[in-house]
Amino acid sequence: MKVPYFDLSRSHQKFAAEAQEAFDRILKSGAYILGPALKQLEAEFAAYIGTRYALGVGSGTDALTFALRAIDIKKGDEVIVPSFTFTATALAVLHAGATPVFADVEEPTFNLDPKSVTQALSPKTRAMIPVHLFGQCADMTTLMALAKKKKLKVVEDACQAHGALWNKVMAGAYGDAGCFSFYPTKNLGGIGDGGMVTTSDEKLLKHVTQYRNLGKGIDDPFVHDEIGWTSRLDSLQAAFLSIKLKFLDELNRERRAVADLYHKKLAGTPLGLPREAAGAYHVYHLYVVRVPDGKRNDLKEYLAVQGIPTMVHYATPVHAQPIMEKYKTRKVKLPVTDRLCGEVLTLPLFPGMTEPEVDAVAGAIRRFFGEKL
Ligand SMILES: Cc1ncc(COP(=O)(O)O)c(C=O)c1O
Repeated sequence: MKVPYFDLSRSHQKFAAEAQEAFDRILKSGAYILGPALKQLEAEFAAYIGTRYALGVGSGTDALTFALRAIDIKKGDEVIVPSFTFTATALAVLHAGATPVFADVEEPTFNLDPKSVTQALSPKTRAMIPVHLFGQCADMTTLMALAKKKKLKVVEDACQAHGALWNKVMAGAYGDAGCFSFYPTKNLGGIGDGGMVTTSDEKLLKHVTQYRNLGKGIDDPFVHDEIGWTSRLDSLQAAFLSIKLKFLDELNRERRAVADLYHKKLAGTPLGLPREAAGAYHVYHLYVVRVPDGKRNDLKEYLAVQGIPTMVHYATPVHAQPIMEKYKTRKVKLPVTDRLCGEVLTLPLFPGMTEPEVDAVAGAIRRFFGEKL
């Protein structure tokens, strides 16, 4: 049986007619940029996350860049980021003109290790970016306490964690700012690129409002008193996301149900399975297993031949990316990151994935490990 890696049509069929109506309405309205549809989504998203404000921008990378700029991160500042993440987390630090300093992650959760953050601190450290990787929150209790003690700002990279909770508080509501991506396969994915900054801080609200809109003044749009970008979430995306937001909890529950099936059907295999930490509500943006004994690539190839596509998030740690060459000066050891990059494999998981599809994946994995099925 062939299994798709991802199938968006199964989520979107739930509300395709409603989306079509919204598109027709916006097409007629002519309000395509910074119109009422965006205002509505921003109010709904802020209420959902539990912050005072939310601001729609062009992408998750822009959300991170603007948030860093808004907390006044600049050249000469250091920002601590995990190396086991998508490159965009650290890319935003470069866009803000600052220096990324890489810290290691905790083995069971793949998320930023507070002990490693402590090792990465220097007098130049101004902020950290905990990433809620694969849909599970980083240990925000310990990281926020550390940030408070060391007077660091916190920008959360919640690009993979719409609806994830840590001690019943939403990802994106802990730090000075939360940053989200609406890339189509994300838990709240749009029909193109998009992003959001969440915050309860009025200063951030003002700065991000200006950055996304060419730096135009709040009181007088003909006065440019910030160096801005053109990076606004457009009305069509916003209207689509408003509709999808109503289904986000249901879609996340479907992801969790698929993850539960995987947990059961892969139990007892040599694979390391993802685990939900105490205090976390995992929304399984990705289902990432660990393949021991150097067999990751062999398993990946074996599954591909059986019609089961998989991916690797991430084969190269961010600190080893060519664009990071210059930032290797002050090194913290990253043994967990290095090990994970050689072991991780992402299995198909998406809302609406069926039990026979999960059976096909699990069965193929068991056969790879020598079971006669
Ligand atoms: C952890 C993480 N950070 C940042 C981003 C950047 O988001 P975007 O692709 O919308 O720029 C992504 C997603 O692509 C991501 O997964």
